[in-house]
Amino acid sequence: MKVFITTPIYYPNARPHIGSAYTTILADYLARLYRSLGEDVFFLTGMDEHGEKIQRTAENQGKSPKAFVDEMASCFLEAWKTLGISYDFFIRTSSELHKNAVEQILTRLWEGGWIYKGKYEGFYCVGCERYYTASELEKGCCPYHNKPVEQKSIEAYFFKLSAFENRLKEFYAENPDFLPNPYKEEVLNRVKDLQDLCISRPKSQVYWGIELPFDREHVAYVWVDALFNYWTGGNAHGFWPPTFHLIGKDILWFHTVIWPALLMACELVLPEHVIAHGFITVNKAKMSKSLGNVVDPLSLAKTFGSDALRYYLITKMSVSHDSDYSDESFAHAYNNELVADIGNLINRVVVLLSRSGLRPRAISPDKTLMEKCEKAKNEVINAAESKDGYVLLEHVPKIPLSLFHTVNAYLSQKEPWKLEGEEKQLILLNALEGLIFAVVLAEPLLPEGMSKAKKALGLGDLTISGLRPFGENSALVQQVPKKLHLYPKVKA
Ligand code: MSP
Repeated sequence: MKVFITTPIYYPNARPHIGSAYTTILADYLARLYRSLGEDVFFLTGMDEHGEKIQRTAENQGKSPKAFVDEMASCFLEAWKTLGISYDFFIRTSSELHKNAVEQILTRLWEGGWIYKGKYEGFYCVGCERYYTASELEKGCCPYHNKPVEQKSIEAYFFKLSAFENRLKEFYAENPDFLPNPYKEEVLNRVKDLQDLCISRPKSQVYWGIELPFDREHVAYVWVDALFNYWTGGNAHGFWPPTFHLIGKDILWFHTVIWPALLMACELVLPEHVIAHGFITVNKAKMSKSLGNVVDPLSLAKTFGSDALRYYLITKMSVSHDSDYSDESFAHAYNNELVADIGNLINRVVVLLSRSGLRPRAISPDKTLMEKCEKAKNEVINAAESKDGYVLLEHVPKIPLSLFHTVNAYLSQKEPWKLEGEEKQLILLNALEGLIFAVVLAEPLLPEGMSKAKKALGLGDLTISGLRPFGENSALVQQVPKKLHLYPKVKA
């Protein structure tokens, strides 16, 4: 099965923060999960580089937009490397690949009669030499110069979004898995009296963009340019349609209304699922530069490790609602769960085994432990087949965590250290078998630590699809280290 997973492409006007890291880590989790299940995965992320905002930011720094976005691209690539993001392709909208794809798409829309020239009513600020919409004004004035603006109309190109209202409604009804469940009603209620969408900006205002192939005095509106990154990246690598678009709830409208309408007009197959997540607040406040409460994912990863950040964001934030971050809850989750439960259990099994001098081999399974492990594995497989984004992101990551607890409880109950001979061996090897299931199922969540654990045991590249029936995996273990400390305690 082909699985095509995307993140939004990020604006390079700021460094990655915990919000962009969150969307990206969720997408990375899905990518790793499906790969471990043996599926053919394509994971796309990248940067949304065009538009007036980037043009201005670059100019304010005395740089050309190109030089500015190139610098920021290295910053994003470095960040994703530190966070262990396993993307397959990093798309940049200023690349030739993307520009050519967008030109082709715009030509197709133009020739199909979905674009027309009209008048855009805007508010012009002479100081800025640009147009504002009514909502961008502050008390009728330019937000930068605080001076009255002139109402003017300019020539612009429009996409016939209004023509798609009924087709969109039919599409939502026929594909109930497309809209994200928590926001379904919100979208359905808003798809009424759709207005056509202005899709161009005069080149005199924005030069940093993709020219319309049928009128080079205008550039494409940055959102239209950006949405088609999914088509550029997927199509170039033989993946279409997208299986999962991961987004934050703020960009729901673009992905669930404008994007499918554009694709319908292009006669392209529509994406399968949009998964929208809530916002992360910091100590209950909105994160913002002026409040000085922007959380830096890289410094967290440097102190606690990238697994800690993934663990916290995936298992402690709720995908369907807004969630709150705090340094205390982060450190608590790391020290009390990742270190104390998971790291210590892995070490406990390893130490018991290595002290016993036992050579791992196939065993006759403990029935209860076996059932729990097989059930966990099947639940993961079934959830992946169902492609329910919220089950996959809210429930599935926790499945291996409860297996770690199960193995811990099994050892505490059986007390193999008090036993000798065959009986002791059986318990230790059953615990090892349970541990292998937990480690392999937890790898998409905790890739750094779990791949170290597999390496230490000589398990090679054992994935979920490669797991043998319970009882037969211990025989794959090549060596048992004397100890294995994966997650050191961090002083908070
Ligand atoms: N460039 C557009 C996306 C174009 S996709 C065709 C964009 N970029 S962004 O950099 O502003 O935001 C990207 C993502 O980060 C969005 O999914 C957004 O929801 C997410 N987050 C930004 N701040 C956030 C939080 N505080 N919490 C969670 N995610 C938030 O929009």
